[in-house]
Amino acid sequence: MNVGLPRPYPDLLRAPELVLARGGQLGRPMHLLGFTSSTNDDAKRASKEGAPHGATWVAEQQSAGRGRQGRSWVSPHGEGLLFSVLLRVSCPPARVPPLALAAGLAVRDAVARAAPAADVRIKWPNDVLVDGRKLAGVLVEAITAGSRVQAVVVGIGINVHTRVFPDELEGRATSVARVATTPPDRAELLADVLGTLDADAHLVVGRGLGLLRRRLEAADGLRGRRVRSEAGGSTDEGIASGIDDDGRLVVTRDDGVRVRWSAGEVHLV
Ligand code: BTN
Repeated sequence: MNVGLPRPYPDLLRAPELVLARGGQLGRPMHLLGFTSSTNDDAKRASKEGAPHGATWVAEQQSAGRGRQGRSWVSPHGEGLLFSVLLRVSCPPARVPPLALAAGLAVRDAVARAAPAADVRIKWPNDVLVDGRKLAGVLVEAITAGSRVQAVVVGIGINVHTRVFPDELEGRATSVARVATTPPDRAELLADVLGTLDADAHLVVGRGLGLLRRRLEAADGLRGRRVRSEAGGSTDEGIASGIDDDGRLVVTRDDGVRVRWSAGEVHLV
């Protein structure tokens, strides 16, 4: 018996049957873990061992949860929804940023359904915000063979039940519980994200972001806002003017020139 090892809370145990009821491919099989180092690492390891498309790892707590830009992702035990799904997609590397955007959009839409009164937005490239505070993040890691992507691990962290954040995050972070009027249901949220991503990932891998354009534009939290990027030692600034079909942020500089940012961190000015 694993005395002292955290286990998944019972609310999550319903997730596999909800996923099954929707009939999609993602979330099957679903590995529910009390504790792990990083669900992205679990998925990457399992992908080498032949895990199928859709296999998903969900953990109550991670000892080495990773975010983008080398940051860590910390979530108190049982309060968040921390999971990674393995997508066995064969595509050129250029399809990975659009896939990551589709994942962010799936999270955004699921949170918006759980909290209909909240203004849930995407902050390019992969953050989900409410009133400028981060509620969820996405970390996508590609597994390549030669010049092609063989599989993609989509790692998602959603603040669900947390009401009090550490001082350094207070004012910058929020959770579903804080913005919803009814108590959030993690199993429903998980099944919803996986169901939406299941449908959208196929579209994006085959045809790019074009078919998600309307939803993406409606959810774009940067559009019309002044943004600055500090990538590779140089600074660029302008008005965010949308996201193109390759997942790049379109920015109009003050001289009217339109540029496209493909990576990096964006700051609101
Ligand atoms: C970010 O906003 O920087 C992305 C955060 C992604 C965190 C999730 S939690 C589940 C999965 N496992 C990880 O180690 N990271 C992702």
